[in-house]
Amino acid sequence: MYRTWLLVQAVVWRALMRVGMLLHDLTSPRPPRPAFTRTIPFASSCSRRVVLHFYCPPEYQKRVQEGHRFPVVVNFHGGGFTLGSPTDDSRWAMCILNETAAVVVSVGYRRAPEHPFPAAVDDGVDALLYLAEHAAELGLDVSRVALSGFSAGGNLAVTRLVDSSSSSSVDVDSLRIVAIFSWYPILDFEQSRDHRRAMSIMPDKTLPAFLTTLFDDSYLPDHQDRTSPFASPALAQDDMLADSLPPEVFLYVCEWDMLLNEGQQFVRRLQRLGKKVRAMMIEKAPHAWDKSPNPFRDQDRVNVLYRDACADMKVIFEK
Ligand SMILES: *[C@@H]1O[C@H](CO)[C@@H](O)[C@H](O)[C@H]1NC(C)=O
Repeated sequence: MYRTWLLVQAVVWRALMRVGMLLHDLTSPRPPRPAFTRTIPFASSCSRRVVLHFYCPPEYQKRVQEGHRFPVVVNFHGGGFTLGSPTDDSRWAMCILNETAAVVVSVGYRRAPEHPFPAAVDDGVDALLYLAEHAAELGLDVSRVALSGFSAGGNLAVTRLVDSSSSSSVDVDSLRIVAIFSWYPILDFEQSRDHRRAMSIMPDKTLPAFLTTLFDDSYLPDHQDRTSPFASPALAQDDMLADSLPPEVFLYVCEWDMLLNEGQQFVRRLQRLGKKVRAMMIEKAPHAWDKSPNPFRDQDRVNVLYRDACADMKVIFEK
């Protein structure tokens, strides 16, 4: 009964978020649409549907035919694992296309409550395996993959931990993740939302409880799962983080977000583990500050940060 109620709420909020993103996209210049999509085929389960949305640089088809291989950014959208769609980050994709020569693949992972943890994590891993398997025909250089994500997607960018011992026939050895760009991720589900909200700088500016309860109960109905490192990477063992995360990690936190503290702690931890971490706190900004539905918002403020991130990404891809 409670799951049905969660689903009803999720369906309503998905529709509202859709409207919000339509308004968000109105701001000039309009962001690009994906050039094409691919649906990952799954033999075993016909209800499993994972669609990959491709944003491509100019002359992509021609250059693929000439044998060119593009670096890849695999992106995970936000929405508490419950809402949101792979086209929500099209302004981020536009910036990547403007500033780097990479292809952006935004993953339509399965959402909760229909598909609770670890469905989204599994879909992220399968997206990477699919891209590795089809790298030649898609013109991708999977030895240069960056992961990016926003909010819940920022969590998925960190928690997808490709298991190279998996029985898959794909040559995962060729797959190399060189960097992560994680924007205001949730990293620790063990801490209660009430506690995090109370500890935040501007509790009134944090996501309201009716949303965070919807997200957390939808994605992690089994409370034991909340301590899994694949849900809460902040709780992973040191060696697991050291081995599974790439050498370069970019982490962006918002000053008014209840996720600020766990983000900053995670940054210090990764630094101790020898990762090259670039952390940035976006001042006077609430969670998901870059996704405002106000068409008259200050998009330049967002683009400046996006462009800085993409400049670093370009350098990493060109190494
Ligand atoms: C991308 O480039 C276009 C054309 O130069 C520009 O109008 C747009 O603002 C750029 N977008 C971002 C996010 O940098």
